[in-house]
Amino acid sequence: MNSQIKFTTPEEAVKVIKSGDHVHLSSVASAPQCLIKAMCARGENGELKNVHVHHLHTEGPAPYADPKFEGIFQLDSFFVGSNVRPVTQSGYADYIPIFLSETQRLYRCGAVPCNVAMIQVSTPDKHGYVSLGTSVDATLAAVETADTVIAVINKYVPRSFGDAIIPMSKIDIFVEDDTPLIEAKFAQPSEVETRIGKNCAALIEDGATLQMGIGAIPNAVLAQLGNHKNLGIHTEMFADGVLPLVKKGVINGEAKNIDKGMMVSTFLMGSKEVYDFIDDNPGVRMMDVGYTNDPYIISRNDRVTAINSALQVDLTGQVCADSIGTKFYSGVGGQIDFVYGASLSKGGKAIIAMPSVTKKGISKIAPVLDPGAGVVTTRNHIHWLVTENGAVDLYGKTLQERARLIISIADPSAQESLDRAAFERFGPHHHYIKSYMGK
Ligand code: COA
Repeated sequence: MNSQIKFTTPEEAVKVIKSGDHVHLSSVASAPQCLIKAMCARGENGELKNVHVHHLHTEGPAPYADPKFEGIFQLDSFFVGSNVRPVTQSGYADYIPIFLSETQRLYRCGAVPCNVAMIQVSTPDKHGYVSLGTSVDATLAAVETADTVIAVINKYVPRSFGDAIIPMSKIDIFVEDDTPLIEAKFAQPSEVETRIGKNCAALIEDGATLQMGIGAIPNAVLAQLGNHKNLGIHTEMFADGVLPLVKKGVINGEAKNIDKGMMVSTFLMGSKEVYDFIDDNPGVRMMDVGYTNDPYIISRNDRVTAINSALQVDLTGQVCADSIGTKFYSGVGGQIDFVYGASLSKGGKAIIAMPSVTKKGISKIAPVLDPGAGVVTTRNHIHWLVTENGAVDLYGKTLQERARLIISIADPSAQESLDRAAFERFGPHHHYIKSYMGK
């Protein structure tokens, strides 16, 4: 089939981009590096001005975001990953706050135009279909709405199923490049992360459908689930930590109400082992993010257990996960999609799990959020909060009960000052806070 495709070079392909265009890049490992390089070369040659680039999290270099391209490329991302964090924090690049579930909608409703979608796909099958591999997310919507779709056909892109399969007729320009996909590396869980993993695992019931967010915690939780039964996956992303559980039969999707027996995700971030796992695997459905992250679809499975992390939590249960004070560190991602979806699910549990202190010893539980910190999960949405010191359920609890429960799992060195702050905020009459007054 490849021999029948009319390929062009990356340099020729990106000539379709005009000044003022909006360009979508597929996510994570699927960011089409050869096209990015060729687009930046045109920028260097002074051929382009004011081209807007959009993407979710991408792995690998993001040269278009370099300050030297000011006025040439403008990155307006849907998530602030580590490769674009410094330029976003310094103001050269910008970020569009948006629920992950709605990133696809931005294109479909026209709020963000898409002139050119630059994507990476698998080799075609005998029927003329290719797969979006590790990035369906908002990429499918970009393919549907773009004026021009440029696709890199790469033999290393896994042929994943679900919404990932698209006919080649949707693609206007083909480029061939067999560079292996970039792999994400994960550190072994620390002792604190392992304790958090154990506290989360104790909340996960047999038959639960899991969503794990981004960051260090998910693998620490998965490592503790070896003795669970009939777990399912309906998530926005997964990584290496699920593979041993699939091999062991712990994850089998048998208790799911929808997509029974299947794992459902919208993008992936992991090692080659993960990419190989989804290749030609009918047990994994890579779906549009409007499906995976729709809270009402999420809630159709029972015992949905969503585990996401946070940068800071205040004494009322407001969760900041996208910024450190005014500095954008990340994005809202799918946190609230899944917190809400899990809380609507029969027997569901929405969990925010984080270490009680940063590596520098700053308490992540604070009397109030830092000025500028963004509330991702509101105090109305939060259910479970987990640290290495325990797990507390804040749902249906009053402000004063919440403060007491949250302080109970803070780092012991921070508890007295947090108690004092709660006492000052809620007054001396309430009976929940042990209080530094010696009550
Ligand atoms: N005050 C100051 N600095 C803080 C801090 C705080 N309260 N909390 C964390 N930090 C610092 C850490 O020290 C670390 O700094 P370093 O990079 O210099 O070591 C950095 O911020 C990241 O913290 P860490 O705890 O290592 O983050 P993580 O990799 O576990 O990710 C989130 C945590 C919240 C950023 C991540 O889960 C996220 O992006 N969430 C939002 C989106 C989401 O939940 N989506 C759903 C699934 S994709």
